[in-house]
Amino acid sequence: MAIGKTVAGPLATAPMVAPIINYSTTKNPDSPKPEIRRRRAGWYNPPMSRLKPLFIGCLLAFPLLLVRAEPDPFVAARAAMVQQQIVDRGVRDPQVIAAMKRVPRHRFVPMELQSMAYQDQPLPIGKDQTISQPYMVALMSELLALTGREKVLEIGTGSGYQAAVLAELAKDVYSIEIIPVLARRAKKALQDLGYARVQVKEGNGYAGWPQKAPFDAIIVTCAPNEVPQALQDQLKEGGRLVIPVGDWPNQMLYEIVKREGKLIKQPVIPVVFVPMVKSGSGQ
Ligand SMILES: C[S@@+](CC[C@H](N)C(=O)[O-])C[C@H]1O[C@@H](n2cnc3c(N)ncnc32)[C@H](O)[C@@H]1O
Repeated sequence: MAIGKTVAGPLATAPMVAPIINYSTTKNPDSPKPEIRRRRAGWYNPPMSRLKPLFIGCLLAFPLLLVRAEPDPFVAARAAMVQQQIVDRGVRDPQVIAAMKRVPRHRFVPMELQSMAYQDQPLPIGKDQTISQPYMVALMSELLALTGREKVLEIGTGSGYQAAVLAELAKDVYSIEIIPVLARRAKKALQDLGYARVQVKEGNGYAGWPQKAPFDAIIVTCAPNEVPQALQDQLKEGGRLVIPVGDWPNQMLYEIVKREGKLIKQPVIPVVFVPMVKSGSGQ
């Protein structure tokens, strides 16, 4: 609706309000400029040269309008998902709730599974990996307690969905995925949706991303059997780390805060994540 209004305004009124040009060479300085003479005479026909920029503007804006106007068939399903799976289960952070309402999860799953994108479950994304359950994405995002100013590291980009949610909540997001084809797909999905502040790297996240460290927050979406030392080192003082730890399928999600160089660990809930690859490229 709002889009229609924005378009209708300028397009409908523009030819009537074309600006009056300043003519620098008139023979008689007291005689009104040609434009004004024509207007006073009761007719006004702006020269084509003046309509050209308007024309070009409309042509350039048209594809943009088509993209913006593309209807999202999942708005209602997403709203229901947020209410029933996230709010009703106790997620309270209004920014997280808003982010979960905004990010189109269906754009991060294979085309043939789009109709299932807002169901209460993880879904396969290829290479034996999954996009996490929406509740888990919301819960882990809330545990990071982001304010919008942070630099965040994610290990396990997968589909890129969690990274998109983080981009709604923090300043910069760095994400590492060990399976190259997944990293490439996630990059593309994030790029298509305009998440320019997410950087995705193909590689082994067990070593973190030392070139971009330190991080205000780190989230790990695969499970190591202990907190990798590199991630401990790359977390800022006062920073938060949310990570599942343990041997599959008996893992615990931890909320960790770094205080005076030490990690203060709080267990949150039992979870089941894919194991974190410790060494090698994961190809
Ligand atoms: C549950 S999926 C991640 C879901 C993802 N966050 C999303 O929103 O779709 C876990 C991912 O961690 C990746 N992974 C496992 N070990 C890794 C490692 N050492 N470094 C980086 N990624 C790893 C897997 O390839 C998989 O894509």
